[in-house]
Parts: sequence; structure tokens; C-alpha cells
Amino acid sequence: MCGIVGAIAGRDVVPVLIEGLKRLEYRGYDSAGIAVVEGDTVRRVRRTGRVSEMEVAAQAEGLAASLGIGHTRWATHGGVTESNAHPHVSQGVALVHNGIIENHEAQRERLTALGYAFESQTDTEVIAHLIHHHLDGGLDLLQAVQAATRELEGAYALAVVSRDAPDRMVCARMGCPLLIGLGDGENFIASDVSAIIQATRRVIFLEEGDTAELTHAGVAVYDETGAPVARGEHLSDVSLASLELGPYRHFMQKEIHEQPRAIGDTLEAIIDAAGFEPGLFGADAAEVFDGVRGVQILACGTSYYAGLVAQYWIEAIAGVPCRVEIASEYRYRKVVPDPGHLIVTISQSGETLDTMEALKYAKSLGHTRTLSICNVPESAIPRASRLVFYTRAGAEIGVASTKAFTTQLVGLFALAATLAKLGGHLPAEREAEYIDSLRHLPGSIQHALNLEPQIASWAERFSPRHHALFLGRGVHYPIALEGALKLKEISYIHAEAYPAGELKHGPLALVDADMPVVVIAPKDELLEKVKSNMQEVRARGGELFVFTDADSNFGASEGVHVIRAPRHVGVLSPIVHTIPVQLLAYHTALARGTDVDKPRNLAKSVTVE
Ligand code: G6P
Repeated sequence: MCGIVGAIAGRDVVPVLIEGLKRLEYRGYDSAGIAVVEGDTVRRVRRTGRVSEMEVAAQAEGLAASLGIGHTRWATHGGVTESNAHPHVSQGVALVHNGIIENHEAQRERLTALGYAFESQTDTEVIAHLIHHHLDGGLDLLQAVQAATRELEGAYALAVVSRDAPDRMVCARMGCPLLIGLGDGENFIASDVSAIIQATRRVIFLEEGDTAELTHAGVAVYDETGAPVARGEHLSDVSLASLELGPYRHFMQKEIHEQPRAIGDTLEAIIDAAGFEPGLFGADAAEVFDGVRGVQILACGTSYYAGLVAQYWIEAIAGVPCRVEIASEYRYRKVVPDPGHLIVTISQSGETLDTMEALKYAKSLGHTRTLSICNVPESAIPRASRLVFYTRAGAEIGVASTKAFTTQLVGLFALAATLAKLGGHLPAEREAEYIDSLRHLPGSIQHALNLEPQIASWAERFSPRHHALFLGRGVHYPIALEGALKLKEISYIHAEAYPAGELKHGPLALVDADMPVVVIAPKDELLEKVKSNMQEVRARGGELFVFTDADSNFGASEGVHVIRAPRHVGVLSPIVHTIPVQLLAYHTALARGTDVDKPRNLAKSVTVE
């Protein structure tokens, strides 16, 4: 959702801000703006629509300065209008903000009574006026931001500049990510490292309640009490190549094709350890896993479906009871906590608000065993967890998650196998077999990718349809769910997934010649059952599109189209069968001409409720 970038340098920072905002576009936004301090004035440009439109306007107005802030906004309070776009200005103070201020109405009343006039419907504008009010009272910019943030309730990452302090920028963080980039005689702030990676890799992650003051020469950080504090410097390993399209048409296509590499990288630690050891999940893992009586998984979207696959693995392989719940449901439900349960949050971004809040809620109920499966180092959710398994998918830019999902499955499989080993359910020969299957996984994924031309020809039949049904059984049912989600997200075709055994309990009523039915049907112990379900579809004139593998014994016939992966890969089969459903969604969206990487109304990181 919203993104922040800021820079103070000995050069014109406008190109830095624009490039940073372009790199934040993937998060989803509907307006963009920048403000700079030029001499003793603050100038700003804002536009609804794309960053490139705002860029043209900034060039036309000749904006150039060595201090500035920029923002991409995803509307929450107030519609998509230029006056609601950030930066917001209060008499020479300009501010950008991510998050939601919960007491904005009370602050608005108070500030109106003090004579401030509001130009927008946003919650953000109160912060600009509040900071100005404190500056007016004699505080300097840092003190004014600290005083203002003490009066705010809610979540924020913010960056502030003032015409009266043309040599500094102040920022603050509570509940939303914000980091500082350290350059040579220049410094930066960003909500996401991708925004400043072209300028520096040296970053400091701010902690909850921190404020910081940046000048050309240096950075000073203060904790929530206002005391100076040293925060560690990290070297980001996000690669520029991962943020660029290269020869691909879309990031989603690139990321689908990166999966053999992404999975290979994620597997490295497991293969290096030559076994499923608690150490894969952190130094404390042996202690945290000791005596675990159950697993509770919490996640949203595609990450939730990864959790559903894990439930099958954890119960079948480790013999440990496992529940999976959508984070936004768990966080508002009266649950019966069991401190013997391991809380596992799954999140590509590490900043999905509902997942973070569900984790906080679990901790408030007394859960201390917490593990995060995450793709973004140092993001909020792993930082709030005792254990972490980092997937090594690399930056994922396409809004629809692909390589993050399959690498999450690798991490979750390793969790199931580790719990099995600790519980005495993983004999050495089975462990060796699993490691061997994992070693071959990148190759199996590549074989599935090679099916792309066949899948693209199916997509042509899908693109004129209005609805589709996805079926699977057992551990492949969540892959049917993921296939339906991918299709609806990016092609806007209504798609639903059902466990194939449920067909007769409702969805069969929808089946006719206009309803394509996709079936995930690998050669596993449920194949014969799935075949019966397919006959139920055929008997009603439904057209079947079946993803299977070479070991199954059925072929194409009238109304039954079949694509086969070269071989059945056993327990890792759901990972391999994810590839065809991703490709089907991608090629269908391509045929329909939708905005594949930025589907309408969706955002990559959902940082609001
Ligand atoms: C959004 C994204 C999805 C993602 C979900 C959860 O809806 O569009 O692709 O699965 O958020 O995000 P997370 O970063 O927590 O995995």
C-alpha cells in the first residue's frame, strides 16, 4: 500500500524521489506526490494516477532541491483526489505518512479550534498541523515531531521537512516500517529498501517509537523516550536485478520463472545442514519446539493457502495437531490459548497488518512459542517472533504472489519434517529420502515450467469465460484454492475452489458446458476418488482441464483435456502442481489484456485493515 521515500543530499534529490516512488509502485497506490525545500519555501507536486504523470508535472514546474520527501498513496480516509494526496502541508511544514491515525477526529476538532484550516479529508493532515502547532510553540523540528507523535493514537511511519529547517529531515515510526539509508554525504529514508537501493545498501531499521533526524552529514536516532540510541547498520542484499523486468513482459512472469532459483536458494540452508534440524529456524528453536503439543498457523491471502498445505504435512508427517486460521478472523475471536502450541505466522512481506495483529493477540494471550515464515528480512512480523525461517525468493514485485508461495511451502515442509524428527516420527532413511526429493525439486519445477506452451493454449479457451471451478483433494485441495485465487486476482474471472469430494453438496449445480472445471489430480492415494468426481462433471456436460503427472493412468478424451508433469514427486507434489495453475492464470490474464502486475483494487502489502 502507501510508500515513503525521502532524501537529503548535496545534489538534486528530485530524480532520487521519483525513481524511489517508481520502485514503490508495485505495492499498489492511486496517487503520488513530492515536496521539496527550495531556499526558504516548500514546493510540492501531487497527482492522482501514475507516478509518471506526477513526474511530468514536477518537471514542468522545474522542481529541483537537495531536500525532499515523496509518497504513493492508497486511499483510506478520503477519496482519490489531489487534495487528499500526500505530502500534506501546514504553513511551511510538509509531511508524508503511512498508517492510520485513530484519534484524528478529536485532533481535527482541537486544531480547528486553534485556527487551523483543513484542505483534505485525510487523517494525515492533522499531523502536519500538530507539528506546526508545536513549532509555533518554540520547539525545533525534531522536538515538534516528538511532541506531536506523543499525541497520536494509531500507526504511522512519517517523514517531515520544514522551510525553517532547510538542512534536515525528521522521521518517526510506530506500527509501520521505516528505514534509513546511509550514503556518502547524503542520507535517505524509505518505507521499503527497494525505494533507495539505487542510492545505497547501508540501512538502519527504525524500531517502534523511534524518531530520527537526518542531515547531509549524519543521522541521529532517538528511542520512544526521546533518548539518543544506536541502531545497528545492515547491508541489504536486495539485488537491483530483482527489481527490474529484464527480458520478461511482466514481473509475475519473471517471478514464476524464477522459482527453480528461488527454491534452490531457500533449500540451501536445509541441504547444508544435511538434515532437518531446529537450528534452521533460529538459535532458540530447540527450546521453543521442545514439548510442542500443537501448531496454530495464522496468515492472509496466498500465505494462508500455504498454511493449509502445511496442515496436511504437519499432521501426516509429524503427527502434531495443526490448525490454520485467517489472521483477520483469529485476531477478533475469543480463542482458547494453549501455551504448548507453536504460533506460526506466514507472510511474504512481513508487514501485513492483520497477520501482525493476530501475532500480537496470540502473544497477549500468553503464547511465547512464535515462528515466522517470511520473505523480507528485518520486517515487522519476523522481528516480533522468536523464531524465523527466511524464504529466499528475492523481491516479489507482482501483486499476485508466486515464488513467495512455493518457497513458503519449502520452509513449511522443513518445519513438518523437523517436528517429525524431534517427535521420533522421522526414521533416518525417510529423512534422507525427503532431502533427496528436495534436492530434485528445482529440476521438477523446471519441468513443470516447460509445460507453458500447452498451458497457454488452454488459457485461450479460458479467456472468454466468466466463471471457473477448481477441484482438488487432500494436500492438493489448497493448490486448487490457490489456482482459483490467482485466476480471479489477475484475470477478473470469477473462480471458486472446492475439495472434489464436496462437489455433490452444491457446486455440481453450477456445472454445464460454460463452466470450465480445473482439476489437480496427481498420482496419489486419492487419484481414484478424484477420477470418480471428474466423471460426475463429465456426466453433466462439464469440460475438464486436468493437471496430472506421468504416473497416473488416464488420458485425454472428449471434453477432458490433460496436461502431465513428467513424474510424480511424492510428498512435494503440491509445490510442483502450483506451477501450472500460476501459468494458467498468467496466460488467461494476458489474453484478456488486464494489468497483470497491478490488478485493479489490490495492493501487494496490505498494511491497513
Ligand atoms: C495481499 C497480496 C497477496 C498476499 C497477501 C498476504 O493480498 O496481494 O499476494 O498473499 O496480501 O500478504 P503477505 O505479505 O502477508 O504474505
